[in-house]
Amino acid sequence: MKLTPRLEAVANLVSNNAKIADIGTDHGYIPVYLIKKNKIKCAIAADVNEGPLNNAKKEIASNNLKNKIELRLGSGLSVLKVGEVDEVVIAGMGGVLISQLIENELKIAKQLDRMILQPMQASAELRKYLHKNKFVIEEEILVKEDFRIYEIMVVKYDGREIPQQDEIYYEIGKGLLENKGCLVLEFIDKKIKEYSKIIEKIEGKQGEKIELKIYECRNKIQKLEELKDYVR
Ligand SMILES: C[S@@+](CC[C@H](N)C(=O)[O-])C[C@H]1O[C@@H](n2cnc3c(N)ncnc32)[C@H](O)[C@@H]1O
Repeated sequence: MKLTPRLEAVANLVSNNAKIADIGTDHGYIPVYLIKKNKIKCAIAADVNEGPLNNAKKEIASNNLKNKIELRLGSGLSVLKVGEVDEVVIAGMGGVLISQLIENELKIAKQLDRMILQPMQASAELRKYLHKNKFVIEEEILVKEDFRIYEIMVVKYDGREIPQQDEIYYEIGKGLLENKGCLVLEFIDKKIKEYSKIIEKIEGKQGEKIELKIYECRNKIQKLEELKDYVR
């Protein structure tokens, strides 16, 4: 079974022999792949929608894994009992939704050995939520699929107050900078382009809000350029 680079990178972050739940499983590829690779023995595949859960059901049946993967219908971590699994995967959802799913079942989330999170957007909001709620990002990687760069975080509840940090580290996680992986510079450049485009669009228009937005974007660009110097 061949996974896409994004899903493969997510799956590879699951620990050997961990009891896992794949939340928002849809096609069920991650648990099926991990069991077929003998990395884990069993899994829970959950989704809030019946259609996607049926996709997973078909995938599981066609791989003869009905006795190894349990399907559960429901929202986020609410399908789990405290301590039932070691690790949770939440991939392919927005960062705000992911943080809501954690917040809705904090007791369960805090007990997990790790959560592997892959936000499709709003990763800065997710990092901010995790930081505020004393979850530590233990590892962060980037993976490129077609033209898009995805962020993947390995997260664990720590419980200790995490020192304040510059807002820019919510956009570019410190773990990404420490890795100095080859995609980091490309990723930072993409962000710089996004902020430059915003400036281009609104420059010349009048108003306090516009001026503030331009100031914020320029400030972010400057900080991102500094991060590039650090990575190089
Ligand atoms: C874009 S798919 C991602 C599928 C797969 N995890 C991946 O990364 O390729 C998002 C899935 O999350 C499910 N989903 C959305 N909100 C959810 C929630 N509150 N709880 C569980 N699943 C949810 C959707 O039904 C959908 O199947």
